Amino acid sequence: MPDLLSPALLRGKAAFVTGGGSGVNLAIAHGLASVGADVAICGRSQERLDEAATQLQVHGRKILALSADVRDAARLAGAVDTAARTFGRLDAVVAGAAGNFFAPAQDISPNGFRAVIDIDLVGSFHTARAAFAYLKQTQGSILFVSAGQAYLPFANQCHVGAAKAGIDNLMANLALEWGRFGIRSNSLVPGPIAGTEGMKRLAGPVGATMWIDAVALQRFGDVAEVAAMAVVLCSPLASYVTGARIAVDGGLALSGLGAISRAVSDPAVRDRPEPT
Ligand code: COA
Repeated sequence: MPDLLSPALLRGKAAFVTGGGSGVNLAIAHGLASVGADVAICGRSQERLDEAATQLQVHGRKILALSADVRDAARLAGAVDTAARTFGRLDAVVAGAAGNFFAPAQDISPNGFRAVIDIDLVGSFHTARAAFAYLKQTQGSILFVSAGQAYLPFANQCHVGAAKAGIDNLMANLALEWGRFGIRSNSLVPGPIAGTEGMKRLAGPVGATMWIDAVALQRFGDVAEVAAMAVVLCSPLASYVTGARIAVDGGLALSGLGAISRAVSDPAVRDRPEPT
């Protein structure tokens, strides 16, 4: 992350990040640790988490790598408890774990649709619920990782759009219900971010140029730019911000996604093999 935030911004605080083993969520974990927070990352693969945890050690904070599938409420709650016990507190929770695949609605099986809803939406609820008691103690905050698909319909992404729209609604309800406990609840909407798994799946079929044309700032974003906003939202810099959906998308939402949606509906694109 660019060195623009005080390295003491979250000193003495602790964070828990689901999906923290890679991509945007790992970048957020780096951001949080770089400003002084102890950080637990949680994901499905212990091996991937251990690798990420080794990288995170560079910040000199306590780092935990706790494997759990966010769909398993009991296992996830166990991971949250372990983090809170080890760090002595939890101040910031990032619900970032997500699943995605690219398929037209008519080709998605009920189980496929449910898998994404379960990981993204239900998993986010499990995360918030497991963290509630700890966040109440610290007057902490929860940050959900949403997506533009929540409000910009996008071909081959109906399951993701439905899940992310649900996340934004959950975020707003928790902001309202938990505000009286001093808990803040917000969503972050990353736009097209270079090098991420999500972009590999979404940009591959239509090429980078079409995406860049659709972005007001005319470029892909960087994971560090998403992490910087996540850190701000998790910090006292955002102490009066709750119930907000903040897009870090270079202005993508301003132009809509019609052209890209039409391009990805082309059978030649639609039937391409999955990226490996
Ligand atoms: N097209 C259509 N259906 C698909 C699919 C695709 N490309 N990939 C998976 N599915 C379906 C499966 O066929 C299955 O449905 P079925 O039982 O009716 O056949 C269902 O989704 C669950 O698949 P499974 O692989 O058993 O689930 P999982 O829990 O292991 O994986 C996913 C979850 C589906 C989200 C998977 O894509 C995944 O793990 N992705 C990795 C994380 C990721 O997507 N990161 C990017 C975030 S932006």
